[in-house]
Amino acid sequence: MVVRFDEEFLKDPVCSYARLRAVGPVHRAEAPDGSPVWLVTGYDDVRAALADPRLSLDKANATTGYRGLALPPALDKNLLNLDAPDHTRLRRILGRAFTPRRVEALRPAVEEIAGALADAVTGADLLAEFCVPLPIRVICTLLGVPPADVTRFREWTDAVLVPADAGRARAAMGSLYAFLTALVEAKRASPGEDLLSVVADSLSADEMLSAAFLLLLAGYENVVHVLGNGLAELLSAGLTSSTVDELVRHASPLQLAIRRFPTEDVEIGGTTIPAGETVLLAVASAHRDASVFPDADVFDPSRAENPHVGFGFGPHYCLGAPLARLELSIGLEALFSRYPGMSLAVPYAEVEWRSAFRSRSLRALPVRLNGRFPHSGTVGGGG
Ligand code: HEM
Repeated sequence: MVVRFDEEFLKDPVCSYARLRAVGPVHRAEAPDGSPVWLVTGYDDVRAALADPRLSLDKANATTGYRGLALPPALDKNLLNLDAPDHTRLRRILGRAFTPRRVEALRPAVEEIAGALADAVTGADLLAEFCVPLPIRVICTLLGVPPADVTRFREWTDAVLVPADAGRARAAMGSLYAFLTALVEAKRASPGEDLLSVVADSLSADEMLSAAFLLLLAGYENVVHVLGNGLAELLSAGLTSSTVDELVRHASPLQLAIRRFPTEDVEIGGTTIPAGETVLLAVASAHRDASVFPDADVFDPSRAENPHVGFGFGPHYCLGAPLARLELSIGLEALFSRYPGMSLAVPYAEVEWRSAFRSRSLRALPVRLNGRFPHSGTVGGGG
């Protein structure tokens, strides 16, 4: 059987992946663009494959015509397209900007941003009022985008990441590219304290540009929707605190890791995948694997063991994970300390989702800031 990510599949991806896991660990599938892919759904295979050096992230190793996002060449040389040794070198340099000390130094800025946003929310849509602006403002701080440019920067970013129409997305991409190029040049000419300045001496202009672009792509949408999806789950369960790890396991929007291409024939879960074909690792499916997570569908912040792979595993492990943890915990604290009685404004079952091949996220998150908690049963989501 060939799996298709059609409306039926995406209506309830938790259920769809559960059905696939019951059949086997590896499946033939068709990506939305019609290209053939292999889909890996069990936890052990997903985790091992994430760190398997025989699975390349470099599109040059694809033999079935995989194209993916058509990025300008200057943006293509980013960590998520590279293997060792180029990846190792770049990662070491960018790692300088994400040391525990540097991330901790961002705490006051993140607290200020989260506090100001939380003070201003009305509850009409917490996704738009809080979850979206928090990470984009943090990234602007990280990259040293001047405050006057933050609004324009966000408009382009939104148009690229959530394209309403292809023409607008292309135009925004052009503007973003020009903006980042100018930003990188400015940082090289007169460095400040921000991330781009920290790495300016060690990277070429294109490598800096690719890094800025990747941080934007990788650091924005995931945080928005772990916060959004996570808040919906927390509020629906009547909880006002959580561990970030359970949010990342159970509520993450991320369905699939970055595609990989075997550099030789590779056996995964009893299936031999030929060199050059496309492999998709279903992280969201791995997170519901009951052989690793007892009561996997239950959202349980008190879980003793939580070896999730929501930040990846191995050499490409999320570089921004410490920052993501900081943003998520400060963001939730900013809201719950101000609005301890906050509740969903609609029953959990009526919250609207935007399910796509790669990500599953909310369309909006209406809440009552001082409402009483309307009990809406267990948080599970299919089975
Ligand atoms: C909750 C939010 C986040 C989630 C769920 C998340 C998830 C991930 C995952 C799964 C990977 C590995 C992909 C793979 O191997 O296929 C990854 C890589 C990466 N993430 Fe995150 N991420 C988050 C936030 C961030 C933030 C805030 C930043 C930076 C500002 C960031 C920067 C990166 C970078 C640069 C990589 C590439 C690392 C490499 O290839 O060596 N991420 N992320």
